[in-house]
Amino acid sequence: MNQPSIKRLDELFAAEPDRLSRLSFDVAAIYFDWSKTHLDAELIQAFVDRAETRSFAAARDTLFAGGVVNRSEGRPATHVAERGSGSPEDVDLAAARHLRTRALVDAIEAGAFGDVTGILHIGIGGSVLGPALLVDALGRRAAAFNVRFLSNIDGAAFDDAVRTLDPATTLVVVASKTFTTLETLTNMEAARAWLSEAGVEDPDSRLIAVTARPEAALDQGIDETRILQFGEGVGGRYSMWSAVGLSAALALGWDAFEALLEGAAEMDRHFRFAEPDANVPLLAAFADRFYVEQAACQTRGVFAYDERLRLLPFYLQQLEMESNGKSVTTDGEAVERPTAPVTWGGTGTDAQHAVFQLLHQGTVQTPVEFIAVREADDAQDPEHHRLLLLNAFAQGAALMQGRRSEDPQRSYSGNRPSATILLDRLDARSLGALIAFYEHRTFANAVLLGINPFDQFGVELGKKIASQLSERAGGDNLDPSTSALIERAGV
Ligand code: F6P
Repeated sequence: MNQPSIKRLDELFAAEPDRLSRLSFDVAAIYFDWSKTHLDAELIQAFVDRAETRSFAAARDTLFAGGVVNRSEGRPATHVAERGSGSPEDVDLAAARHLRTRALVDAIEAGAFGDVTGILHIGIGGSVLGPALLVDALGRRAAAFNVRFLSNIDGAAFDDAVRTLDPATTLVVVASKTFTTLETLTNMEAARAWLSEAGVEDPDSRLIAVTARPEAALDQGIDETRILQFGEGVGGRYSMWSAVGLSAALALGWDAFEALLEGAAEMDRHFRFAEPDANVPLLAAFADRFYVEQAACQTRGVFAYDERLRLLPFYLQQLEMESNGKSVTTDGEAVERPTAPVTWGGTGTDAQHAVFQLLHQGTVQTPVEFIAVREADDAQDPEHHRLLLLNAFAQGAALMQGRRSEDPQRSYSGNRPSATILLDRLDARSLGALIAFYEHRTFANAVLLGINPFDQFGVELGKKIASQLSERAGGDNLDPSTSALIERAGV
């Protein structure tokens, strides 16, 4: 951030008395403060012009009308239809599928599956990160079931996941858009074996599938009455709004699930209708583009100053990096600019005692984002929460202000940007709005870059080679390093 033409943050505040009011926003009971970023009127105007050149408004209209925004796969992105925006057919279909999910939740609650105390949710990537975030964030006090999430193919993960579950009273939810994913199918078989070894009669009757390909779930022996479908247009990392949210709806209750959708819909309306200079996901994308493209920042740090949001950085990693970690435009041309930075992060205040040294004094510049919640929801002295919030705000102030010292070791350059998101309270509605904010910001970044955020071909090659290795079909072309590793590991 030391380019001569870019003003320092303290200069920006001094030069613009209305800076805070222009760069802070209240949307859906969430306060967004982007004033400690380097965005100024000139930069914003330049990005607004770029958005126009990129036909941003038309791209957004296409998204919300259910048009084809995922060109490489020739389909729309219909996660917004789950929240009521899209083509009438997509919206009706999503609503009908929600009714089916709700009926299953009601049936389980009413005892149609006997006594149920636990849910083993199996899925990976987008088929687990969203539900796990929801249950971890909102289900701490009063989850109706003991929901455990299992993703990794590592058997140790399976052992951990079932440790507190009773096979006799557990339902297994297998979420997979494709229903072909190696990890998920392997874990599903392990779950069947776990149930049957525990003497559960007819283990298959305890399995529920959530998928966009019901025929693939049928092929895996799951009865059609226990298959919940969602649309092909719902990308894995955008799927928590669909039946993929079943385990969360079970843990939190259907009303909470509906509130989640309503919160997201409120953010959808903001993103659709707010003017560019007051449109929070779009402005956040402008800042993202600025730091990656003009300040050469290769990473973005996200710190949840709330234990309930500790899984948010992991969720955002997939959302942002799988969506925008691309090198070619929608037309297949090499992209002209750096695309997604590495999203990383952690929880405050822990991170202050681990990684913040580099953020304050390191040579790598990292825009930082703080996410905090005004109202506490814990049983401790309110002083804990007061100190938690003050620490978050102190970090942002310190990064921006810095402090000069005669002693270079004790000098802080300052002028280090941060954004702060402060929720009034953490509930299903505000979390829905928050996640939708990140989805739209990701979309806005993609439009500004001219890339497709809805495909993920980059993950295919590794999967393919793993399967060739497993079938011993790739041996001839294997490099010496990999061959030696396989031999040494004895696999
Ligand atoms: O890792 C690639 C990926 O396809 C993700 O996009 C997806 O969320 C995850 O795998 C799981 O895929 P599925 O839901 O088809 O099992």
